[in-house]
Amino acid sequence: MPSNKIYIFDTTLRDGEQVPGCKLNTKEKIEIALALEELGVDIIEAGFPISSPGDFESVTEISKVIKNATVCGLSRAVEKDIETAAAALRYAKYPRIHTGIGTSDFHIKAKFNSTREEILKRAVQAVKWARNFTDNVEFYAEDAGRTENEYLARVVEAVIAAGATTVNIPDTTGYCLPHQYGEKIAYLINNVPNVDKAVLSCHCHNDLGMATANSISGVIAGARQIECTINGLGERAGNTSLEEVVMVIKQHQCLDLHTDIRAEQLNPISQLVADVMRMPVQPNKAIVGANAFSHSSGIHQDGFLKDSQTYEIIRPEEVGAETSKIVLTARSGRSALAYRFRKLGFEFNRNDIDVLYEQFLQVADAKKEVQDTDLIEMAAKYQPEVAAAIS
Ligand code: KIV
Ligand code: ZN
Repeated sequence: MPSNKIYIFDTTLRDGEQVPGCKLNTKEKIEIALALEELGVDIIEAGFPISSPGDFESVTEISKVIKNATVCGLSRAVEKDIETAAAALRYAKYPRIHTGIGTSDFHIKAKFNSTREEILKRAVQAVKWARNFTDNVEFYAEDAGRTENEYLARVVEAVIAAGATTVNIPDTTGYCLPHQYGEKIAYLINNVPNVDKAVLSCHCHNDLGMATANSISGVIAGARQIECTINGLGERAGNTSLEEVVMVIKQHQCLDLHTDIRAEQLNPISQLVADVMRMPVQPNKAIVGANAFSHSSGIHQDGFLKDSQTYEIIRPEEVGAETSKIVLTARSGRSALAYRFRKLGFEFNRNDIDVLYEQFLQVADAKKEVQDTDLIEMAAKYQPEVAAAIS
């Protein structure tokens, strides 16, 4: 019976750091790695050691300070890459080498000018070479999303036989539809005879905005690891967002899956990564965006004030966000206005609110958002002593 734990493999420091402008130094990488460990991720992909001396140093230093999580280094299916990854990981308590090669015909022909048989041979050799340094080897079949399933199954079987303990099935170009990605994982589970000897991993990119949906489809089909990044950072349109997959799994208990992530740290770590990488989070980003718990239309505000569950499926404190916000705009209604006046200390009856609401709409039409100072100014005419006390 497969375990229902989903391993969270964070690649913020590798795929996430590939974003132009997000390059980090070793000190910054260590700060994020320690926060990721505290968050409860199972595997931290710390970098691509052969890519630069700076990345080699970062992987080495992260390996020294991480105590509980597995530390992973990326490599191509090239002996020197693998040796360099192994050297950078030499201090890691739990090291993992992540090696692999493109398996789609696009990659085999355009990138390698090679053949399927030759690529399969190189994949097996790479895994065998990596196993000389550690027994924790992950193989990635780059562009698996566009690799024909029958050939992909042969590659997966061969690399598991060669010693891969995790096999990554990347949708490198973010091309798959959720049902196609799920069917790909199901195909591998049903057609690779030794598949029970390894964990299948989802690594999805967001080019069509489907990275989270595809990863969830993958674990429903039987994959047991998700590769993701904080704030969904990553090449082009990004990778699967860690906070999204974790909360999908938490919210939908019918999936009977779980992670070890401490959800209340999601917003603090999102902010840390945004600050250190100097990459602000879009306001409408699920779970960690500034508007994720803001209500601005009258219908929503009225429902929310009667019972927050009418318009919120997650309590903000569950994910370490500030309390829900009622934002006053020209789309807000009387109940939100009355609520905000009450919060400020004013007590108005229904008739007062009707009058104030007309004034409020005038201000709101002229501004994007009505602030407390605007409300105090409006209310001062009716209850000057309260206005004076809070001004
Ligand atoms: O997207 C991808 O295929 C990758 C691999 C290097 C794992 O990032
Ligand atoms: Zn990737």
